[in-house]
Amino acid sequence: MSAPNKSYDPVEVETLKPEEIERMRDEALAAFAAADSLDALHEAKVAHTGPASPLALANREIGALPPQAKAEAGKRVGQARGAVNKALGGRQGELEAERDARVLVEESVDVTLPYDRVPAGARHPLTTMMERVSDVFVSMGYEIAEGPEAEAEWFNFDALNFTPDHPARQMQDTFFVQGPAGDDAESGVILRTHTSPVQVRALLDRELPVYIVCPGRVYRTDELDATHTPVFHQIELLAVDEGLTMADLKGTLDHMVRSLFGADMKTRLRPNYFPFTEPSAEMDMLCYVCKGESVGNPDRPCRTCSSEGWIELGGCGMVNPRVLTACGVDPEKYSGFAFGFGIERMLMFRHNVEDMRDMVEGDVRFTRPFGMEI
Ligand code: DAH
Repeated sequence: MSAPNKSYDPVEVETLKPEEIERMRDEALAAFAAADSLDALHEAKVAHTGPASPLALANREIGALPPQAKAEAGKRVGQARGAVNKALGGRQGELEAERDARVLVEESVDVTLPYDRVPAGARHPLTTMMERVSDVFVSMGYEIAEGPEAEAEWFNFDALNFTPDHPARQMQDTFFVQGPAGDDAESGVILRTHTSPVQVRALLDRELPVYIVCPGRVYRTDELDATHTPVFHQIELLAVDEGLTMADLKGTLDHMVRSLFGADMKTRLRPNYFPFTEPSAEMDMLCYVCKGESVGNPDRPCRTCSSEGWIELGGCGMVNPRVLTACGVDPEKYSGFAFGFGIERMLMFRHNVEDMRDMVEGDVRFTRPFGMEI
C-alpha cells in the first residue's frame, strides 16, 4: 500500500469541494421534500444515503486525503450527512403521520350509511300472541290440536248441537264452499266459523281423557272494517275427563289471565247461551290497566275497558252432554269444559290497536314494533 499523497488537496478533489458537498446535500433535501409517499421516500433514501450515494462516495474519498486535509473535509461531509439524515427522519415522520391519518379515515365505519342487507322480517303479532296463549296450556300438559279450515257442516254445526234453523247456519253469516245449507241431507262444506269443530274431531280421534288447545283461523261473512274482518283467529280449549266441574273451568281461566297479564288478574263468568255448552257463560277478565279502579271513578277514566272494569274475552261452559254423546263419549262417566276467544280482540286491547285493518294489511311498519321474537 502506498503512502498518503502529501500533495493531495481536498479542494482539488472534485467530489470534496464545498460547493459539491452542498449540492449533494441540497439535492438530498429536495428529493426528500419532494417524496410524496413512504415508497418514494425510501427510494430517495437509498439514492442519497445508501452506500452508492454521492455523499457516501465522497466520504470514502476522505480516507485518501493527507492528514491535514482530512479534518476539514470530514467535518464538511459529516455535517452534510447529518443534515441529510435529519431531513430524512423529519420527512419520514411527516409521511407516516399522513398515512396514519388517512388509514383512520379510510378504515372508519360510518354506522349511518344505508345498508344493503335484506332485513329480517318480524313475525306477525297475531302469530306470536297465539303461540304465547297456547304455551300457557302446553306447559300445563295440554296438546295442540288442529282441524281443517274448509270444514264439514256436520263438525262445525250439527255435532255441536246447532239446530238446522240456527241463524249462524245461514248464507249471510257463513261462507259455503260446497252444497247448500238447509234441507240437503248431506253435510255441505263451509269455511269453519269457529275453532269449536276441533273439539269434536279431538273427541272422535283421541283417547280419553282429552286436554287440547286449538289455535286457528276462522271465517265469517263480515266486511273488513275497523272492528270486523272476514278472516280472524281463535283459540279453543277443551278438557274432557272424569269429574271435571265448572270450578276447574274457572281455575283454568284465572291461570290463563294471570300468566298472560299478571299475578293479580282474575276472570268472571256471566250466564249466556251456546248450543254446545251447558251451562254456558260469557267470560270477562279484570281490566289489566285499571284493575277495576275506573268504575264509578270519573277522576280515573280507563280507555282500555271504557271504565267498565272488565274486558270481555269470549265464551265458555261445560261441554253439553249432547256433544259428548255425538262423539261417542259417555256423559254419565265423563264431563268437560271448553272455551274459545278471538285473538284479534285480545291484540287490540292488549296493545291498543285501534283498527283491525292494520292486522291484515301486512305492513311491516305495523308488525315491527311488536319485536323480532322468533
Ligand atoms: N265458538 C264460539 C264462538 O265462536 C266461542 C265459544 C263459546 C267456544 C263457548 C267455546 C265455548 O269452546 O265453550 O263464538
